[in-house]
Amino acid sequence: MHNAISEIKSVEDAAKKAVTNTIFSPRFYTTDYEAMNRINVEPVRAEWDAMMAEYEGDNNHDHFQRDATFAEEARELAHKMSPELRQEFLDFLVSSLTSEFSGCVLYNEIKRNVSNPDIKKLMEYMARDESRHAGFINSSLKDYGLGIDLGNLKRSKSYTYFKPKYIFYATYLSEKIGYARYIKIFRQLEKHPDKRFHPIFRWFQRWCNDEFRHGESFALIMRANPDLLRGGNVLWIRFFLLAVYATMYVRDHTRPELKQAMGLEPTEYDYEVFRITNEITKQVFPIMLDIDHPDFRSNLDRIYRCAMRADAGKAAGGIVGNLQKAFWSVAGVAVFVRMYFIPVKSNTLPQSARLVPSW
Ligand SMILES: [Fe+2]
Ligand SMILES: [Fe+2]
Repeated sequence: MHNAISEIKSVEDAAKKAVTNTIFSPRFYTTDYEAMNRINVEPVRAEWDAMMAEYEGDNNHDHFQRDATFAEEARELAHKMSPELRQEFLDFLVSSLTSEFSGCVLYNEIKRNVSNPDIKKLMEYMARDESRHAGFINSSLKDYGLGIDLGNLKRSKSYTYFKPKYIFYATYLSEKIGYARYIKIFRQLEKHPDKRFHPIFRWFQRWCNDEFRHGESFALIMRANPDLLRGGNVLWIRFFLLAVYATMYVRDHTRPELKQAMGLEPTEYDYEVFRITNEITKQVFPIMLDIDHPDFRSNLDRIYRCAMRADAGKAAGGIVGNLQKAFWSVAGVAVFVRMYFIPVKSNTLPQSARLVPSW
């Protein structure tokens, strides 16, 4: 089958990868700042203040520094990577960097444009964390001579406008799924240190606790504004759940070597991540996707195969290639729509929204 990831051979390739938007790559967002100003967190004040105290305490302030052995370890292990693994790892670094930096840019922009003191302070803390995360990944790219100019990326990438509620659904989910992804990798490599092919994975535990807390912030915002969680909005929640899960599935399956090198099987890994995310999202979403439904697995796999064929068409180019791309894109969307109507499971929201990262 056509290889879905484009090769990164130079610093220009890395920059191009970060700036290019496809339906499966991380995007940059803008939103309605006036509406953000009107967000009221009074109904969850006690939990909110406790969370803000955690941000203030900044337990990861010293975490995102490389230790003395980092560079050497990275160099030594790099020799053992196959060229395929190396390419997938670089692809992983660039897309992770883009998504960390996307959070950083969004949170910073919200902070600059709102006057609501609760939201402003929260955004400042989250931007602080994401900027550390992005910087930390970038230093690993720099080891390969592939560092990305983040100022330039901020200026040249296009921005997608999302209403605040879409930002809440999508960002909440991406923070929580980000937590689940990183903790699964960390736990696996904790058990099998011989499979840790890069030192960056040693940082993942404390790292993903930041993401977990970012998710908590959006959970509290939504719990404080329960209209976001009922009526027609439930249909949006359903949409974002499926979009985020499907995107992850496609992206992970285009990088099979990466998971295999860690001793993980991509499909199994993804379903574990879905399971953790489903468990976490019970804190706020009234529904969850039925990932064990017999049609769920087969259709998700079908979306991946449509995406690969669309991609092959795009790579081939010309009239035939473009037709092929259009055909398989439409086919993929049709499967997505079918999946959207697979019955979901409902949740009763717990009294208190707050959770601790216990996976
Ligand atoms: Fe992050
Ligand atoms: Fe985050």
